[in-house]
Amino acid sequence: MQLIQTLDGSYTLKHDSKGHYHSIAGARQEALLKFVKPALTTELLKKDKLVILDFCFGFGYKTACLLDVLGINEKKLIIYGLEIDKTLLNKIQDLPDQFRHYNLIKKLINQNPLIQDKLKLQLIFGDARKQIKKIQERIDICFYDPFSPSVEPGLWTEKCFRSVYKIMNKGGVLTTYSCARTVQENMQKAGFIVKNGPEIGRRGPSTIGYRSCKNKICNQNRIINCCNYKQTNRPVYGFAKRQECASSS
Ligand SMILES: C[S@@+](CC[C@H](N)C(=O)[O-])C[C@H]1O[C@@H](n2cnc3c(N)ncnc32)[C@H](O)[C@@H]1O
Repeated sequence: MQLIQTLDGSYTLKHDSKGHYHSIAGARQEALLKFVKPALTTELLKKDKLVILDFCFGFGYKTACLLDVLGINEKKLIIYGLEIDKTLLNKIQDLPDQFRHYNLIKKLINQNPLIQDKLKLQLIFGDARKQIKKIQERIDICFYDPFSPSVEPGLWTEKCFRSVYKIMNKGGVLTTYSCARTVQENMQKAGFIVKNGPEIGRRGPSTIGYRSCKNKICNQNRIINCCNYKQTNRPVYGFAKRQECASSS
């Protein structure tokens, strides 16, 4: 598998038949702007423990980016990664460290689950549609990242989204890069409140799915913290931006 530099300077790889593992417009920017940032609502940031599902873990960019943003000492983080291809673990070892916490992803090769400070990170190998049943805890955040719907339609079905929705806490958030109409419809049918996420480059928006929250406080405006990677692998924090809470609609 060949290492390919994306437009933000970070690297991706290309699967022989299924396409790139990350956006060629910027693998690191995609992780931050399409997955991590939209998932971190004010309500979730207030919790002292978050349970995260990295659905189609791949090279772990979304998890690494989340660790860069939240750190590993502030709150308890329990992260489950579902991945079918065990051979990727060896390839992770050869990748450059493009995230401050990528060393923790590399540690998984010899230590799974990895438990360090307030972090527990566990990879579960096999078909995510089956393995999701092994997760006993309710999740707050899901990074949903299979190959594209045209390549892997079976991973973007209503049934698949329902299996995630079922184990989500109220107020939970699913983020994904795809904005395909069928994807958004299937998410809605599964129970999610669906909103368009941010656009990066000239591609369409991403998608955010909220599991609605009965708690009135959650139904007030959410503040999304704004941060960005600026040429370095350290997220730079900027201003905070108000966003209407999806659960209130
Ligand atoms: C787009 S890549 C994910 C990239 C990854 N999230 C990252 O940030 O590095 C899709 C991943 O889904 C995995 N995959 C494909 N079918 C799967 C399945 N049925 N269950 C779990 N993982 C699967 C592939 O091996 C591949 O690693």
